[in-house]
Amino acid sequence: MSPRHQALFSSSLISPQVQAQLPEGYLMRPLEVADYHKGFYDCLAGLTVVGKVSEQTFQQTFEAMFRCQSVYHIVVIEDIRQSRIVATGTLIVEQKFLRGCGKAGHIEDIVVHDSQRGKKFGIRLIDQLKYIGTQVGCYKLLLTCSESNEPFYEKSGFQRKDLHMALYLNSQQQQEQQQEQQQPQTHSISTLSVVTTAEVRGDCSSHVSSPKALHNHGVHIEALSTPMESIFVK
Ligand SMILES: CC(C)(COP(=O)(O)OP(=O)(O)OC[C@H]1O[C@@H](n2cnc3c(N)ncnc32)[C@H](O)[C@@H]1OP(=O)(O)O)[C@@H](O)C(=O)NCCC(=O)NCCS
Repeated sequence: MSPRHQALFSSSLISPQVQAQLPEGYLMRPLEVADYHKGFYDCLAGLTVVGKVSEQTFQQTFEAMFRCQSVYHIVVIEDIRQSRIVATGTLIVEQKFLRGCGKAGHIEDIVVHDSQRGKKFGIRLIDQLKYIGTQVGCYKLLLTCSESNEPFYEKSGFQRKDLHMALYLNSQQQQEQQQEQQQPQTHSISTLSVVTTAEVRGDCSSHVSSPKALHNHGVHIEALSTPMESIFVK
């Protein structure tokens, strides 16, 4: 079957316990191509700039992620009666050589439609992504959030750890970064041994971690926000 008729990942990774905690009429499931027409972007727009994405580009991106089997786990909560996506969240599974070729999970793009907040959909998304992380054998989960969302993630067992650093490589995003830097910063770089992760989006093999290499190339890196980490004991 073509990827465009399938779920992004196996629905066997959806937790029956988490599904059972959703109100009647709501379904937790993997992202599907048809979600383009079910308000997936309306939902994402509650998080950040989504840009204009045609259906064709959405399908091509979906298929590229689909081919990276066991990497991208984008879950959605659908209001079945309305055929609308009310919440979405992502777990990206990073294969490592260290820790006995272990896996780290990166939680991204958590958002609940603004008309649906305060109904525990956010917590259910995180529970679901923790379930996938456990099922696929991640030894830790990492995420970055604003200070205002820290209490939300603490409720799911995450703790503040180290610093997160970001470098935007396209000029529009650089401008956005500069605007963010004009906001009051709550963290400063206090040590040279901080772990830095620069993410270059586009394909499944482009996740790079090399602060020293970037620094040697004259790249100036600024701290943006706080990483949260939850360690899973295998
Ligand atoms: C953050 C967000 C995902 C929370 O989703 P939600 O469905 O409204 O949250 P829930 O109903 O699951 O909240 C669960 C608990 O966390 C608390 N909570 C939620 N957001 C909180 C916040 N920003 N600060 C403090 N507590 C928060 C709730 O009060 C609730 O507490 P309780 O269990 O004691 O009743 C949602 O507000 C959202 O989409 N925000 C915009 C996008 C965003 O910032 N995403 C996070 C990117 S890192």
